[in-house]
Amino acid sequence: AGVYPFFGENQAGIVTPAQDRLHFASFDVSDISRNELQELLEDWSYAANRMTSGLGAGEFGPADGPYDSPPDDTGEALDLPPAGLTITFGFGPGLFDERFGLGGKRPEALIDLPHFPGDALIDGLVGGDLCIQACSDDPQIAVHAIRNLSRIAFGRAKLRWSQLGFGRTSSTTRAQVTPRNLFGFKDGTANLRAEDTNVGKEIWAQNGDGPAWMTGGSYLVSRKIRMTIETWDRTSLREQERVIGRNKGEGAPLSGGTEFTEPDFAVTGRADAPLIDETAHVRLAHPETNSGATMLRRGYNFVDGNDDLGRLNAGLFFICFQRDPRTQFVPVQLSLARNDAMNEYVRHVGSGIFAVPPGATSDRPIGAGLF
Ligand code: HEM
Repeated sequence: AGVYPFFGENQAGIVTPAQDRLHFASFDVSDISRNELQELLEDWSYAANRMTSGLGAGEFGPADGPYDSPPDDTGEALDLPPAGLTITFGFGPGLFDERFGLGGKRPEALIDLPHFPGDALIDGLVGGDLCIQACSDDPQIAVHAIRNLSRIAFGRAKLRWSQLGFGRTSSTTRAQVTPRNLFGFKDGTANLRAEDTNVGKEIWAQNGDGPAWMTGGSYLVSRKIRMTIETWDRTSLREQERVIGRNKGEGAPLSGGTEFTEPDFAVTGRADAPLIDETAHVRLAHPETNSGATMLRRGYNFVDGNDDLGRLNAGLFFICFQRDPRTQFVPVQLSLARNDAMNEYVRHVGSGIFAVPPGATSDRPIGAGLF
């Protein structure tokens, strides 16, 4: 991957072929004015456009600015190509309160997510007023982007939580092979892809959906999902495949065929038991079970060291994009939270929802339509 332009009708980092690495950050906005918020978004857009082009975050760079000021770029990306860097900005519910006079601008689709059965959310891993998703094939480049945008925000917004991810767990174009998650299964087989007809209608907010400033935008839901992989690793292959509803080698549905064969939930085997279990993840997540609901998944694996019981602190940082989470993420997650056989092996510990505005242009910074 080379260079993906920051400016455009939609933001990059959504239908862009999923890069290998992620640094995701959520911010709380400090006690600043509406004008200062607007300036922050201008400064972020300016720096994001430079960094995605392979330039330093500021005009001088890490080594050539005024000698008595801190450099306007931190330097660790010097001499490295952008490796497909995309920087995607989102606005959390907290941005739309009276502090900034934006109360009337909050899209109805930017709901406060309901509490799902089994949620084990940790306060410090939830929410945020602003988010930035930085993806690149080079982890140093993704981290450099978040580091510099946090530095630029100093005194105006501060990090609330952030997440590093590796090994994309989704394909978002037909050209990409399907990667695997930490359960060892192919992930992203049945995902929405950039090439699909009508994919836009599933992902981008359309004219008339809500406030005009969101047309061409999307809604991002993030879930930090801890996977108890030690338990999983002591589970039989039969049970693992039953939980997912696909085979482990090829990723084919248990109803038969190859990876891209549509699952057939009606097919039964011995004793009339369905070949794809009633509680299998693919059955419960499938559009057929959810009034046609789809989403574009774009998550990453994570391993944040280990816990004090000697288990890897590992899992999936789930990210999805959609036109309206009320009819897409929420019903699917409800169906999973209630019945998914996978629940025995996962725990949702973090959560976020963000309105991702349409793309910026050189004279309209990100979120310009809000002010
Ligand atoms: C499918 C794993 C969480 C939505 C799949 C597949 C796997 C998988 C292996 C089958 C291959 C594929 O089509 O991609 C996981 C793991 C999760 C997780 C390990 C948590 C650690 C979620 C969550 C959602 C979700 C939270 C949404 C609320 C879907 C959807 C499909 C899918 C929509 C495609 C179903 C279809 O159309 O056949 N997942 N998933 N998954 N998953 Fe998940």
